[in-house]
Amino acid sequence: FEPGPLAGRHVIVTSGPTHEPIDPVRYLANRSSGAQGTAIAAALRDLGARVSFVTGPATVPQPVGVQVIRVETAQQMRDAVEAALPADAAVMAAAVADWRVVNGSDQKMKKTGDLPSLQMAENPDILAWLSRAPQRPGLVVGFAAETQDVLAHATAKRSRKGCDWIVANDVSPATGIMGGTENAVTLITATGAEDWPRMGKDAVAARLAARIAKELAARVAK
Ligand code: C5P
Repeated sequence: FEPGPLAGRHVIVTSGPTHEPIDPVRYLANRSSGAQGTAIAAALRDLGARVSFVTGPATVPQPVGVQVIRVETAQQMRDAVEAALPADAAVMAAAVADWRVVNGSDQKMKKTGDLPSLQMAENPDILAWLSRAPQRPGLVVGFAAETQDVLAHATAKRSRKGCDWIVANDVSPATGIMGGTENAVTLITATGAEDWPRMGKDAVAARLAARIAKELAARVAK
């Protein structure tokens, strides 16, 4: 038995969309399937990590062999990430809703003839918060789904959010990436940007997990 390179390490992965309730039966959501986050959790597990998998209501099956923490809203996701700390690394692959509804209703809203008007508030940015938290994991990885100027926007996002790496991808409809099984990413670190060839989301996850293992090992060696 060979212990994996991430044995003894704890990694938090966020995944899937969030649902922001309007009333007991309605919500705001997005089209994230949770496929890339689920693949990353499985790949980290395969390298021996203990994985806390904080997931919104995803459409793909949950990974096995990880601790699954199911949440609905962005605020619940933030609290679940906080409760899972401390961690050696965090990979924030969730598509967190930017806004929540603040004038929602405890009862199902009725059709009255007047149109409802939703008021919104900004959700916490979990990646930005974690990157500056007192218990910040040693390695924090964010994602950036862009439709134009991918490198420039993702590089700016890396500094703005304060994370170590950004996994950037082009989600223009023509790429077929959003909702598809393949991904073509650029890994942005403090020292540069690497274009990875287009490959399956499982292969992206395996390569990212190996890269995380290498980085954590190098930090211990330092
Ligand atoms: O700003 P944008 O949503 O493009 O940033 C994407 C990255 O930030 C992803 O890693 C996503 O998981 C994370 N994020 C977050 N909390 C938010 C919004 C985004 O953790 N409220």
